[in-house]
Amino acid sequence: MLVLIDNANLYEIEELYNSYPYDGVTTNPTILRNEHQDPLKLLKSIRELLPSDSQLHAQVISDTTEGIIEEAHFMLDAISPDLFIKIPVSAEGLRAIHKLKQEGVNITATAIYTAMQAFMAGKAGARYAAPYVNRLDNMGADGVQVATDIHNMFRVHNMESDVLAASFKNSQQILELCKNGVGAVTAAPDVLRQLIKHDATFTAEENFEKDYYSLIEEVKGIHLKRDDK
Ligand code: G3P
Repeated sequence: MLVLIDNANLYEIEELYNSYPYDGVTTNPTILRNEHQDPLKLLKSIRELLPSDSQLHAQVISDTTEGIIEEAHFMLDAISPDLFIKIPVSAEGLRAIHKLKQEGVNITATAIYTAMQAFMAGKAGARYAAPYVNRLDNMGADGVQVATDIHNMFRVHNMESDVLAASFKNSQQILELCKNGVGAVTAAPDVLRQLIKHDATFTAEENFEKDYYSLIEEVKGIHLKRDDK
């Protein structure tokens, strides 16, 4: 399962990448607005910061097929030809997905709230379909179930699409999707940090360190670490 960062803050992205080899970055207009800077320059900087095998996903704003296609071409030229173009699933969006796929463009169908939307996006040629897990939960639906249903439909129908689940509030939602085999998730930095955090691990590490130094204090002249005296 790929794990991506749903954020556009260069400091956050660099910090997260320094601690773990993530698989890429996803953005949307709201995420870009939070950074209060030229979005195109920022997306270029993110692309330059990321390792070459990491994905970058950026979203179009236009809501007509022609507008979406024009915007996609502009972003691919300006940012990178391997950019994943995020397109919200609407009738116009699906038409754009179909046309751009024929040009070989990587597409992530986004703002997905039903399994059927994802299926149609996959059929139109989207490489990824992004259901909004936590937003679905907040609507009284079951976001993990919708994402899992999409994953299962893609596999049953032998489609070349994967789920890129988005919108998470906690690590439990991600764990469930991981157990269910979905292809990818993208989450905000605070949720990503929770994926590896456990106070008991921290306490265990502290106790092991204490016991080690108490041992070398007790038995003089032994050491496991090069710098122990
Ligand atoms: O990429 C979509 C995602 O950013 C939505 O997340 O937390 O705004 O529901 P959220």
